[in-house]
Amino acid sequence: MKPLVFGIFQYIAPNGTVGSAWQHPSDTSHEYLTIAHWTKLAQKFESAGLDFLFLADSYGFPALDGELLEAAVREGRGIPQGDPMPIVTAMAAVTEKLGFILTTSTTVEAPAANARRFATLDHFTAGRIGWNIVTGSSGATAAALMGKDLIAHDVRYDMADDYVDVCLKLWEGSWSDDALVVDKAAGVYADPAGVRMIDHDGPYYRAHGILNLPPSPQRTPLLVQAGASGRGRDFAGRNAEAVFVAGGVPSVVAANVAGVRASAVAAGRAADSVKLLVGALFITAPTHEEAVAKHTEMLAMSTNEGAAAIYAGNTGIDLLALDPDLPLAQTSTEMGQSNVERYLAKDGTPAPLVRDILENFRTTGINGSVFVGTPEEVVDALEEFVRATDVDGFLVQPHLTPGTYDDFIELVLPVLRERGLAPGEYRGSTLREQLFGEGRSRLPESHRGHDFAWAGTTGGDSAG
Ligand SMILES: Cc1cc2nc3c(=O)[nH]c(=O)nc-3n(C[C@H](O)[C@H](O)[C@H](O)COP(=O)(O)O)c2cc1C
Repeated sequence: MKPLVFGIFQYIAPNGTVGSAWQHPSDTSHEYLTIAHWTKLAQKFESAGLDFLFLADSYGFPALDGELLEAAVREGRGIPQGDPMPIVTAMAAVTEKLGFILTTSTTVEAPAANARRFATLDHFTAGRIGWNIVTGSSGATAAALMGKDLIAHDVRYDMADDYVDVCLKLWEGSWSDDALVVDKAAGVYADPAGVRMIDHDGPYYRAHGILNLPPSPQRTPLLVQAGASGRGRDFAGRNAEAVFVAGGVPSVVAANVAGVRASAVAAGRAADSVKLLVGALFITAPTHEEAVAKHTEMLAMSTNEGAAAIYAGNTGIDLLALDPDLPLAQTSTEMGQSNVERYLAKDGTPAPLVRDILENFRTTGINGSVFVGTPEEVVDALEEFVRATDVDGFLVQPHLTPGTYDDFIELVLPVLRERGLAPGEYRGSTLREQLFGEGRSRLPESHRGHDFAWAGTTGGDSAG
């Protein structure tokens, strides 16, 4: 089996994937609003040789019908949540190789503002930035907060395609590679022949102007996507170089993975041009009994009310208000669909009942896969999961901070390396090189963003 990708999943908040782990005596995630908390973590992840730190984000929060869900506030689940952008330069300053993948939603800011911020960060991190493109979990509250109406699910993805076009044109097409001169003696900062306006007149967004920055090491940040609904997978096939998928039942994950690879092929790209990474919790200890005890302790910190609040925030569906002995009505939601599709009848299996859905969500969380056992047991299960699903790697979800990561680094990673499943050292210097190999800092030619590149470097002379 080829080496896998391993990223760390975090968000600017007290931790917990399954339950409210922040309340554990050893957990330090309540320090999430201090810079030192993050710089220490980033150094830990880099010295372990992990690929990247992913910071999830959403402007949404758990609420239903305009009312806050009290359990979310009380248990620190989805509320509070800080902006991931400002901490990245502090972490970049104390690391050299670790990548950073940051989430922004295409429903919040103008595309040009987003493009400029990511370009600036790609410079400040020397090419270690990725953009997790989402149309936004908890869409209803996010829209209301921004003074907007909730846009229909599939339209959000149509808009996201158009949004990404604007960003790609700015990153790929506004400056030539040799425009920057910085000749002090001649007084020439940049060559005017190498900087030009881009034009975009799309179905949802218009933009006329420049990216007001010279090209960054990657130009376009590594493009990542999360959201595995049918329309989300189409979007991923066109745009994403890495996709975060939820874990859970291997046959369901395998279908998601195959769906994304098929839509990449339909977009003229190779099936393996997209890295599929699955969110998973690793609860491990030197002995099986200790690992099981840690798992039991984790479940004791997870309440039905907290789980239902997270589920409601993500899907708009209140599991506590439904008849526990019926399945989810197969009605669609205009909020996030992955966590609804997850619990519908499929492959001849009947749809689970609401009481089972709640228990499954309480014990496995939003991303679904929990591996419990000794390092060898966990790696055996992980290998089996990879074989069954064709995923390319994992996002190590937060439970105890830093305990769960220490266990992963000290116990699991050595077994992975012994079996050749985790790379031993960093490849190249940019995030794209780390995932795709040295010399591959820029978008590949098969990606549609390449068509927007400056004439002479690639695909055509028109940026418009
Ligand atoms: C590992 C993983 C990480 C995710 N991170 C985010 C995130 O940071 N922000 C967000 O809005 N959605 C995130 N999502 C996606 C949401 O769960 C949700 O599916 C999506 O926003 C709605 O799109 P969909 O209808 O295509 O599922 C993530 C999903 C997975 C599997």
